Amino acid sequence: MEALQKVFKTLSDPTRVRVLALLEQEELAVQELMDVLGMAQSRVSRHLAILREAGLLRDRRDGTYVFYRFEVPEEGPWRETWELVKQSLEADPTRARDRAALTQVMAARADRTRSFFDAVGPEWDALRKVFNDDALRSRALTRLLPPGLEVADVGTGTGILAQELARLGAHVVAIDHSPRMLEAARAKLEAAGIEGVDLRAGEAHALPLDDQSVDAAFTHMVLHYLPSPAEAIREMARIVRPGGSVVVVDFVRHEHEWMRQELGVSWLGFDASEVEAWFEAADLEGVVYETQAARSGSRDLPDTFIASARRRA
Ligand SMILES: C[S@@+](CC[C@H](N)C(=O)[O-])C[C@H]1O[C@@H](n2cnc3c(N)ncnc32)[C@H](O)[C@@H]1O
Repeated sequence: MEALQKVFKTLSDPTRVRVLALLEQEELAVQELMDVLGMAQSRVSRHLAILREAGLLRDRRDGTYVFYRFEVPEEGPWRETWELVKQSLEADPTRARDRAALTQVMAARADRTRSFFDAVGPEWDALRKVFNDDALRSRALTRLLPPGLEVADVGTGTGILAQELARLGAHVVAIDHSPRMLEAARAKLEAAGIEGVDLRAGEAHALPLDDQSVDAAFTHMVLHYLPSPAEAIREMARIVRPGGSVVVVDFVRHEHEWMRQELGVSWLGFDASEVEAWFEAADLEGVVYETQAARSGSRDLPDTFIASARRRA
């Protein structure tokens, strides 16, 4: 009986009922409640004090602000009484006005953020450096990938992609046939403090990996150096598990003869039909060949492509 009396006493003031309904809907600071209710601080604070004393409010400090929330007690006379009170409040025009004012207060929160970013714009990248770092972003991205993903990086060179994949939490087997490139990759990985990359000497047409031993095989700007690109794609298909991916990045067919002398390339790029035929011959399915226009630079460069497919499950 006593508990019930307390409930009725707390609910005897219509403003307190409005406050409770608002705080059940959103966690609000005193100023925000003042804005919604159109009341002075002293009145709002007095009601909050009564509600707090009745044990109905949870508060959360955020810097200099305190945010309040009403959590309907699980037990006791509150739950049913509050449901009844709320029902009649919903039919009251004041509630509709409060809801509309609350929507405005919530919109004002978003507006503050928007005006901040509108003012900052392109300066954000410089500002962000203060509290945000690349390692943290990479760690967060690892949550997107299945844990323990095993990837082969064929023709790893200085290990630039192996490094990125390892940062994303993948275990990488990085293969190259050049001892000097492998040395350079080792030095870079050590300098960056990256573990989880297994550097191996090997040929693209005879990869030092067992059949179906990795989840994905990747080769970036290597195909145009290989004696037989078709054979390399067959090898990549061999080492991936059923359902695993083979991804190739290289140049689209081009006419830049200078690349043979200056960069030692064997092939002047590849077009979609030949890459697709190699993938299909390796029993890979769902081939996607996507091109990207060369970035305009001081020298005319060929377009590039990304081709990918999956080993049949
Ligand atoms: C242009 S680099 C690309 C390196 C790296 N993938 C990247 O994108 O930075 C080509 C690499 O492929 C390696 N390579 C060329 N032919 C190869 C082969 N037959 N087997 C294994 N690696 C090979 C070279 O030693 C070189 O490191």
